[in-house]
Amino acid sequence: MDIQQHFPVGIIGSGAMGSGIAQVAATAGHPVIIYDTNPAALEKCRGSLAATLQKLQEKGKLPDAQAVIGRLSFASDMNAFAACGLVIEAIVERLEVKKSVFTTLEQVVAPDCILASNTSSLSIASIASACTRADRVLGIHFFNPAPLMALVEVIPAVQTAPGLPDQVKQLMQQWGKAPVIAKDTPGFIVNRVARPFYGEALRIYEEGIADMATIDWAMTALAGFKMGPFTLMDYIGHDVNYVVTETVFQSFFCDPRYKPSFSQKRLLEAGWLGRKSGRGFYSYAEGSAMPEPVKDEAAGRAIWERILFMLINEAVDALQWQIASAEDIELAMTKGVNYPKGLLQWCNELGSGYVLAGLDSLYEVYHEDRYRASALLRRMGVAQKEFPL
Ligand code: NAI
Repeated sequence: MDIQQHFPVGIIGSGAMGSGIAQVAATAGHPVIIYDTNPAALEKCRGSLAATLQKLQEKGKLPDAQAVIGRLSFASDMNAFAACGLVIEAIVERLEVKKSVFTTLEQVVAPDCILASNTSSLSIASIASACTRADRVLGIHFFNPAPLMALVEVIPAVQTAPGLPDQVKQLMQQWGKAPVIAKDTPGFIVNRVARPFYGEALRIYEEGIADMATIDWAMTALAGFKMGPFTLMDYIGHDVNYVVTETVFQSFFCDPRYKPSFSQKRLLEAGWLGRKSGRGFYSYAEGSAMPEPVKDEAAGRAIWERILFMLINEAVDALQWQIASAEDIELAMTKGVNYPKGLLQWCNELGSGYVLAGLDSLYEVYHEDRYRASALLRRMGVAQKEFPL
């Protein structure tokens, strides 16, 4: 594959992610072939992509929508991928289904075609194991909505050919994305490092330290996040957010740092999925008013600092375990989930000794492994050192 060329790109799965990735690839100049087993999904994708691209042109954000639409084609079987240089899979998040798709896919594409999965929680090594030439398989993880979110996590599996991640990283840059390279470990960068944003907020709420509205207020008005944890969980949907938490927890051999919460599990069980079902932590029914926060700045600071210490600890731990470079961890959290600043930079600004003391005092109170400071944070904190960024 010559990444300077506009080779055809195949997309498997025409849902939320597949459509978005197809739009990105076609806008970057590639002919794109989209395949789905569900003809209705494929038709819906065709209609919504055409409408989206037209709208972008009307807003002056795309010079020629028709040219991009002309590069899109829709297929009802995988033989259409024969000439592709890259195929990205974005189907249902089930390992056995993905493996069977990759085995079939390998039989219809050229030997040098790159095969990628957009999985957010499965191991790339296990998906690649379904292929005879597993060295051309890797993860290319986009964020939702793919056309708007700049971050792309590129994930080599143990089987992946050594030069491939950098080649794909370059391609993603050509597509206008901000790619980072992440190790094939649960949650990659973003879905691992971001867990305490939800988990620690839930814990503070479950212990009755503060109510949801107050925690959301502290995280937005005082800490500068765009959305508070409860508003964001309701927005993502508990069927997605809870499942990611549980998967990360299970995949980390039940490390208590990632323990899911009963409050969120019950919402899922009740079918209170968040905004999309009209009710989650908050009610979105017509006429319902949002609860008012208790705007006490000192109590608010204690809340946002506790959540932030836990987030910083995750970022430092990811660095210690070489999940990604410091630069990529910072980029991932600012571009992937729009954090107001990188967590390592935030640690430097607060002082690593201060963050370590915060975590240690939580540990003192609870004596739970959940609050153990990363060994790297301890080393930096004791020496009052800054992370070189
Ligand atoms: P979706 O449910 O919107 O779309 C999945 C599509 O795949 C459906 O149209 C379905 O008909 C099709 N499909 C299912 N089995 C198939 C098969 N065997 N062959 C061909 N097509 C098949 O799902 P969504 O949200 O687009 O997610 C897709 C993948 O992207 C999953 O692996 C998910 O974990 C991952 N992802 C999702 C994100 C999100 O926020 N929704 C973010 C990043 C990754």
